[in-house]
Amino acid sequence: MKIISEADIVKRLSAPVPRYTSYPTAPHFHDGVGEGEYRNWLAKLPEDDGLSLYIHIPFCDRMCWFCGCHTKQINRYDPIPPYLSAVRQEIALLRDAIGFAPLLNRVHLGGGSPSMLKRGDLERLRSTIDSNFQLHDATEISIEIDPSDLSGEEFEAYRAFGITRASIGVQDFDERVQEAINRPQTFMQTAATVEGLRGAGVRSLNIDALYGLPYQNEETVSRSIEQVRTLDPDRVALFGYAHVPWMKPNQKLIPEAALPDALERVRQARVASDILQDGGYLPIGMDHFALPQDSLAIAAFEGRLRRNFQGYTDDPCATLLGVGTSSIGRLPAGYVQNETATGNYVRTVASGRLPVSRGIELTAEDKLHADIIENLMCRYSFSLSSLRRAHGALTEQVRTEIQDALDADPHDLAGFDGDTFWIHPHGHGFVRTVASWFDTRMRQKAARYSMAV
Ligand SMILES: C[S@@+](CC[C@H](N)C(=O)[O-])C[C@H]1O[C@@H](n2cnc3c(N)ncnc32)[C@H](O)[C@@H]1O
Ligand code: SF4
Repeated sequence: MKIISEADIVKRLSAPVPRYTSYPTAPHFHDGVGEGEYRNWLAKLPEDDGLSLYIHIPFCDRMCWFCGCHTKQINRYDPIPPYLSAVRQEIALLRDAIGFAPLLNRVHLGGGSPSMLKRGDLERLRSTIDSNFQLHDATEISIEIDPSDLSGEEFEAYRAFGITRASIGVQDFDERVQEAINRPQTFMQTAATVEGLRGAGVRSLNIDALYGLPYQNEETVSRSIEQVRTLDPDRVALFGYAHVPWMKPNQKLIPEAALPDALERVRQARVASDILQDGGYLPIGMDHFALPQDSLAIAAFEGRLRRNFQGYTDDPCATLLGVGTSSIGRLPAGYVQNETATGNYVRTVASGRLPVSRGIELTAEDKLHADIIENLMCRYSFSLSSLRRAHGALTEQVRTEIQDALDADPHDLAGFDGDTFWIHPHGHGFVRTVASWFDTRMRQKAARYSMAV
């Protein structure tokens, strides 16, 4: 087997590819799918299946220059209550369109910074969720936290809301890096957040860390990841900084000359991964790490790892409802995405309409390729025999696609034994690239993506 040199790796990186948090990916959504289709799909949801709920809070009280999220900096709390009242209306509209109060397995508050929400607003949101869905003892309720938002009073509100998991944004502890991305955050501030959340009974904590930021090098990344490790999170999400200034104007403030090149990014990811694995974390998919007793690690071990818009998950639900601006929903029939502008979103909901602006209906071919890509992203392999059980005769076309993929694989990243296609361990860092070989939609319509590692 050919060993890949680091120079070869850099060459491979010349082709940016999607992160595959969905298939088809968001650039393929179109306005031919709207409220009518969504209502049809919602009305067909089976009553005995649980579902998941994602609620987007598109506000922050600071603007980090690296940020790729859909959010807006606000200096006062005023825009939040009217937005949340639209969110509560949208939840009620969804419940009516579904026709029954569905069982809820997951609730995730993401953003933006849901850690800006005040106690009263959290209480009202929780009560709306309770009156439109059925929660149970095992319902996971999670929230994304920017430690700079917290004064210490929020922890009891999180306990009352029933938060079971929290994800804390760290990115990097190095002061020079923090200055270059406009994200000051001390280690002590982060440690106090960890302690407060644990004290409030939050069972599972994740920390987000980044590599590929301006002025980062192997040494600074090592130091930051060592510090992350001392906080003893259950999970670490280690993302490569996605520099897409043509989509995110705030990233134009990032000093591009100080960005590490592709080879350096690979080295930073490797050093961070080594530190985490030495500390007992198991690598999960392409960018997550989890302690062996964590449910994500158990799901990966048992072959139940899934991928959705939040990244890797052990959520088995076929349906994820997205609420709030820009939120994406996944239903068995297809994807829908909400209106991104807050004003339009609030007005649409106030008029009793579901605020869907675009989406995509899944064809049988899409479902087949979504299955292939999710398997590659989660397990680095797929087998024709299991695809055939789910997708029938359509699976036969995959043989030609595998042959084309192997022909286009000069670095010997993948192998095929007649039934199973797999990515060799030395190719795991290129899982997005290999997945893109099975992205038939991408061949039909090009879009701009971030670097593959
Ligand atoms: C909504 S934020 C997390 C919560 C909170 N707003 C915070 O920043 O602490 C989601 C996460 O996405 C990641 N992220 C944001 N922009 C990114 C980018 N351009 N490339 C890679 N990861 C990014 C960061 O790690 C960030 O913690
Ligand atoms: S990284 Fe988090 S706090 Fe910073 S702007 Fe993005 S969403 Fe807001």
